[in-house]
Amino acid sequence: MADNIILIGFMGVGKGRIARTLAAETDWYTVDTDDLIESMVNMKIRKIFQEHGESAFRQMEQQTASWLELHVNCTVVSTGGGFFKVKNLNRLGRVVYLHSSVEAIFEAISNHAKAKKKIKKRPLLKDLDRARDLFNERLPQYRRVADYEVLVEDRGIADVVAEIADLVRR
Ligand code: S3P
Repeated sequence: MADNIILIGFMGVGKGRIARTLAAETDWYTVDTDDLIESMVNMKIRKIFQEHGESAFRQMEQQTASWLELHVNCTVVSTGGGFFKVKNLNRLGRVVYLHSSVEAIFEAISNHAKAKKKIKKRPLLKDLDRARDLFNERLPQYRRVADYEVLVEDRGIADVVAEIADLVRR
């Protein structure tokens, strides 16, 4: 099994930022699955959804997961919010679910200086009622696949990163 730290959780919870900070502190490398997919097909996520549909995007996530399993080690991997459904998730490394309430996530996104851009690039965030339903549907699923759960709501990033580093060091 590959020895990576895989951060999963809902859109906007801060997976990328937490991954970059954690990597800087552990001397590990970091990659983001959405970035890998965008560079593989040279297309933004929004365009992939528009032109090829969500199921094609999910296949690209699986392709990325298969590649990660074979080729990536000692890396903090931040993932898209639906990436946790790949078949080989638990073979990629230790899976950490980052939890926040959906209302806190919506609030953080809408208060962000780049709120418009953040919403625009996430097709599944356009309709907030549907996004809330998706969150509720996924919450037990995130918890089922995760090795650890870390609360991010109302906490500073240093605190969150220290907790993850502690968990995975054991
Ligand atoms: C998705 C989350 C997005 C991106 C895509 C689908 C999802 O990533 O992969 O828009 O299904 O939750 P972030 O979680 O980084 O926003």
